[in-house]
Amino acid sequence: MSARLKNQIAIITGAADGIGRAIAERYLAEGAKVCIADINADLGQEAADRLNREGPGATFVHTDVADPEAVQAMVAETCRRLGNPSILVNNAALIEVGKDALSVSDDAWRRNFAVNLDGYWHCCRTVLPLMKEAGGGSIINIGSVHAFQIVPQYFPYAVTKHAIIGLTRNLAVEYGPFNIRVNALCPGMVETPNAFKAWEATDDPDAARAAIATIHPLRRNASMEEIAYPAVFLASHESSFMTGQSLIVDGGRSVVYHD
Ligand SMILES: NC(=O)c1ccc[n+]([C@@H]2O[C@H](COP(=O)([O-])OP(=O)(O)OC[C@H]3O[C@@H](n4cnc5c(N)ncnc54)[C@H](O)[C@@H]3O)[C@@H](O)[C@H]2O)c1
Repeated sequence: MSARLKNQIAIITGAADGIGRAIAERYLAEGAKVCIADINADLGQEAADRLNREGPGATFVHTDVADPEAVQAMVAETCRRLGNPSILVNNAALIEVGKDALSVSDDAWRRNFAVNLDGYWHCCRTVLPLMKEAGGGSIINIGSVHAFQIVPQYFPYAVTKHAIIGLTRNLAVEYGPFNIRVNALCPGMVETPNAFKAWEATDDPDAARAAIATIHPLRRNASMEEIAYPAVFLASHESSFMTGQSLIVDGGRSVVYHD
């Protein structure tokens, strides 16, 4: 076992499933202890139990990141069970897409911002004083290629992802003097269980999967592990002079010109 995150304590939101779960798995393999903070109690506990079978170090705390009091309680519980967090991965987000901008209801707008932006801020605001007191830390905000490119019918998801870059840059400047690094990690299409569910709901799942794969110059979608490894890099001392940045891990998708 390598131990690039030895003695580190990480909170990962939305780690019951998908990319967050893969990051939790990789962080544990690199020697960290991990709090899985997720709104899905069944999947969250199952993920923690499964990871602990490989070796102890994971704990689940039921959390709705949109609720600031729930976030405070989750961080306090993490401190009690594991110790003060030195890493925060803001990952939990709603991916509600497929509507024309004018047909997005006020409720949907607020729901998306409540999780995708407010949720990230609630977690940052709660861990920053602890990291400051400890003399440093690393915050990783999971963004997206949609933080840089606009694809029709990704509203307001893309707006929330653009906002994440602003949050990242702003906090990096304000907390750099305290040795707290804040970076964004921005994936292209990732093959999560929910992505497969969406493809399976189409008439031709293989064609749906292949259609999105071809928009990446690498001609395939990412595995979850291909996002988890860069998340290790951003959490570890290997990226120690890097803050306020967006690490785009998208198989080259964001550099292609489409006419
Ligand atoms: N999957 C992709 O292709 C892709 C691409 C680019 C960026 N991203 C980003 O990566 C992150 C993870 O995406 P994913 O595809 O793994 O998502 P997912 O839907 O597979 O998993 C999201 C997890 O977040 C949890 N969650 C949802 N709302 C929550 C809340 N209010 N409080 C706490 N937990 C909550 C869910 O229960 C779930 O476990 C998101 O920020 C997403 O925008 C995903």
